[in-house]
Order: sequence, then structure tokens, then C-alpha cells
Amino acid sequence: MRRKLVVGNWKMHGSHKANAELLSGICEARPFGADVAVCVPFPYLSESAVALAGSDIRWGAQDCSAHEQGAYTGEVSVSMLAEFGCRYVIVGHSERRAYHGESDQLVADKAKAALARGITPIVCVGETLAQREAGETETVVKRQLSAVIHALTHCVGEMVVAYEPVWAIGTGLTATPEQAQAVHAVLRAQLKAATPKADGMTILYGGSVKPDNAVTLFGQPDIDGGLIGGAALKAADFVAICRAAG
Ligand code: G3P
Repeated sequence: MRRKLVVGNWKMHGSHKANAELLSGICEARPFGADVAVCVPFPYLSESAVALAGSDIRWGAQDCSAHEQGAYTGEVSVSMLAEFGCRYVIVGHSERRAYHGESDQLVADKAKAALARGITPIVCVGETLAQREAGETETVVKRQLSAVIHALTHCVGEMVVAYEPVWAIGTGLTATPEQAQAVHAVLRAQLKAATPKADGMTILYGGSVKPDNAVTLFGQPDIDGGLIGGAALKAADFVAICRAAG
């Protein structure tokens, strides 16, 4: 039995006041029957670490550099994230791929850099609506995952994978549980060919997960929890989703 994981991706949202309310709302609702984490904007890592210290809620970042250090203005290294106690870092989110031109290889390099510092990369893959309609979903997600599998070699089993269909992100359009499960099964099979640990690996679904659809999504055999955007910004909704996971 894989333990479920629910991760809130705050994206570029937050303020000192809003964060304090959200984090205390989540902490007060513990315990959960699933692992829970929040991936917050870089400037809020410190206060999130303080607010969550002593709880079993984990925290992480939404991106990292593939480089260790150097003249990379605006970048943040995984060593820096490690100093803030990050357990996770999201890499390859479709918003990074689309707005910052991140390639499959760069995403793979970031995942490798994260693992080298003991931070678990949450590697996002997913197709656009045009790709789905063209029947390319499987090809796209397999290509994206393949780059990471090749980069991680013997560490493949240590990452978390998140399937986020681009057309379902922030749109209110959720993949049906069957659509999501079908892609998760493809990803699990690809992982199985790469590592004996595949059956124990966590594959999250992301894309308009809400309290009212979480139970059915998380009930699918290869869906091990969720990567939550909009609904992670309201404690009541996020807590309800965490409860749906366990
Ligand atoms: O990473 C989470 C994500 O992109 C899904 O966002 O707002 O559709 O839950 P949302």
C-alpha cells in the first residue's frame, strides 16, 4: 500500500498575513492520514519553516536551479533550499515549461541536482489540450518522463512524479478519474521498466483538484495523491482534500 501525498503548490500567491492564517489552519486540522506538504514562494520558505517546525507537515519550493552556485542572477540552488529544510522541490511545472522555456533536459538536470542534495523532486509532466486532441498524450508524457529517467539512472525510484494535464490547470476542467488513471498507468509502466521501486513510487495528479472530486481521483489505483493549486490557498479546501487522501 502506498501512502498518499497531498502537496499544495501556492504558485505566486501569499503574504505574511495570509501565509500565517493558512499554515495555522492546516496545522490545527492535523493529524491527517496522508503525508502533506506545501510548496511556497522562495521568500516565504523561512517563515513557513518556522510555522511548520515540530509538525509533520513538510515544505518545499516550486523550482530550483540546475547549477550548484555561480553567476546565475535570480536563480536559487538546491543547497540553499536544503538550508531552509525543504523536503520537496517542484520541477518542470507546465507554467515553467511554457513561460520560461524549460526543456525536458533542463527539468531532468534540476531533478538530478535536487536529489544530489537530498531534496525530493516532484517532476511534473502533462499534455496540452491540442496534444490531447491530436492523440499525443502518451507520447508527450513518456518523452517528458524519459528525460528524467535517463538523468537519474539508479535514483529514479527516489522522485515523485506529478501528472498535470495542462488543460486542467486552473481551468475548473478536471481530468475524469478514468482519464487520469489511464495516464498514471502509462507512467507507472514506464517507471517499472526503469526501476524495481516503481510499485512503491508516488504519482500525483494535479489539475483542478477540489474537495468534491478528490475522493474519486484518489481512489484510482495508480493515483497516489494530488498536487493542488487554487484549492491549496484556502485552509478549509486544502484540509478537505488532505482528508480525502487518508
Ligand atoms: O501544481 C498545481 C497545479 O498546476 C494545479 O493547479 O489550480 O488547477 O489546482 P489547480
